[in-house]
Amino acid sequence: MSWVEIDKVANVPKGKMKMVKKKDIPITVANVDGKFYAFYDRCPHMNAALHNGVLKGKVVTCPLHNATFDVTTGKKLSEPVFKFPPEIAEKVPKEFLKMLEEEGRKIETRYLITTEVKVEKDKIFVKI
Ligand code: FES
Repeated sequence: MSWVEIDKVANVPKGKMKMVKKKDIPITVANVDGKFYAFYDRCPHMNAALHNGVLKGKVVTCPLHNATFDVTTGKKLSEPVFKFPPEIAEKVPKEFLKMLEEEGRKIETRYLITTEVKVEKDKIFVKI
């Protein structure tokens, strides 16, 4: 593993995430209150691109099924939630919705893969 430059500090403002591909690996850097954290960009559930999700504080929510993760540790905070928008759910048989909910509760999503981050001068580096 070696340190790889990601971007300038100014390009990842507080409360934002940025994905870059280095060595063919999609890495997302998150700025949590001025401190940077990095993780493999793919959700450990079904591989969604986490940089398309929402970062609130230190929690990223997956854009596909809403699993949540602590970007400072990689810890999973909640499992995926399978919910259709109401306008679609009303057209789907209730038994099917119930089956999806029950099966969804059995899923065990793993932690995010995180990596070390350092800042030198005005640049962010991650170890990959
Ligand atoms: S792909 Fe992320 S929660 Fe399903």
